[in-house]
Amino acid sequence: TGGVTTIDAGFKNTSSCESAITFLDGEKGILRYRGYSIEELAKKSNFVEVSYLLIFGALPTCDELAKFKADIRKQSLVDEDIKKILDGFPKSAHPMGVLSALTSALTAFSPKSVDVDSPEEMYDAIVKIYAKLPVLASWAYRKEEGLPLEYGDNSLGYVENFLKMMFDLPNEVYKPNPVIIKALDKLLILHADHEQNCSTSTVRIAGSSHAGLFASISAGISALWGRLHGGANQAVIEMLEEIKEDGGGYEKYIAKAKDKNDPFRLMGFGHRVYKNFDPRANIIKVAAEEVLADLGIDDPVLDIARGLSTVALEDEYFKSRNLYPNVDFYSGIIYRALGIPIPMFTVMFALGRLPGWIAQWREMRLRKEPIGRPRQLYIGATGRPFIEKEER
Ligand code: SDX
Repeated sequence: TGGVTTIDAGFKNTSSCESAITFLDGEKGILRYRGYSIEELAKKSNFVEVSYLLIFGALPTCDELAKFKADIRKQSLVDEDIKKILDGFPKSAHPMGVLSALTSALTAFSPKSVDVDSPEEMYDAIVKIYAKLPVLASWAYRKEEGLPLEYGDNSLGYVENFLKMMFDLPNEVYKPNPVIIKALDKLLILHADHEQNCSTSTVRIAGSSHAGLFASISAGISALWGRLHGGANQAVIEMLEEIKEDGGGYEKYIAKAKDKNDPFRLMGFGHRVYKNFDPRANIIKVAAEEVLADLGIDDPVLDIARGLSTVALEDEYFKSRNLYPNVDFYSGIIYRALGIPIPMFTVMFALGRLPGWIAQWREMRLRKEPIGRPRQLYIGATGRPFIEKEER
């Protein structure tokens, strides 16, 4: 056991690294990116600028931002041969699996992006993945819908261009409503980083072996897919839809969530770090109400979500376990109002989390962190002699 005597399952009480990127205070519900509060950034900044802040550590000057955007535009094409990999997937493939595969495939078209040690070489790999992920994300959606693949329009902003790649039709140009662009930009900011969560820890440990940035991000996408993590935003809407189909009575589901013999969990509730509220959930809840009002959408699941959270927040079981709505509880309601299909919800989370994954990978590599390799407490068989199969 190498002298190890205690297990910390799920690393509930383990710090894996020093980091200067994101600060969380779980008791006070504080979230800051490089010292700036997410409340201020969500109100005053935009996703590309926040991405720059997370990755490089400071809000960019006008020239720095212009150069970053120009470098991204230069990298916004994807090798046409990647489409052959996409063609191999059935339409029923979940877009998170497609995105993870295509992201890892990027390495094959940029072999020099693998073992990069200098900030300059890292910069080249960073703008490549930052520019190409939205294209691949839209292709995963277009494949599922049987639509032609688009490259968008480099003269548009990051979010508007993504929406164009998603929803432009050969016979009808997509003109996104400014409310949708602003709401999506805010959602991406709120998902941009969250210190050492499951998928970020995956990116760090994959990157610690000096696997390339694209392979490390691909590993992070796979970890985010799980319904206990980023996959929860899809699971929340599916749960709310089930409650709606079941007559809208959420009391039964609250009882199921409390029943230890029932594997059902209230999706979108609970958090490893936040023990009073998730500051992102509060902002997203207000944004959901604003977006639905602006777009004149009356989505019954928003009422179910409100009622469910009100009852749960007053229930002793949830209060005693510090269970509150998390970032995933309301986000799906906005994605759906924006016309984004449910299987793409976790892809939206990945798009938002990309700058955080990049920033954490870059910090780990620049600090020359050692390869991640934990120990174990061995509980298996003691030494035993081989037995020929005829004697078994
Ligand atoms: C994200 O880490 C991050 O920062 C993640 C994230 C990010 O930005 O990267 O914030 C994004 O992943 C948000 C979480 C999305 N997941 C869900 O909404 C899925 C539902 N939530 C749970 O599975 C759970 O709350 C977790 C996974 C979020 C946290 O799990 P923990 O910290 O391991 O807590 P636990 O499972 O040990 O639960 C503690 C107790 C248990 O009860 P007891 O054994 O003490 O009696 O609370 C109960 C759990 O059964 N519990 C729930 C519950 N969540 C916890 N009971 C019912 N419904 C729930 N949702």
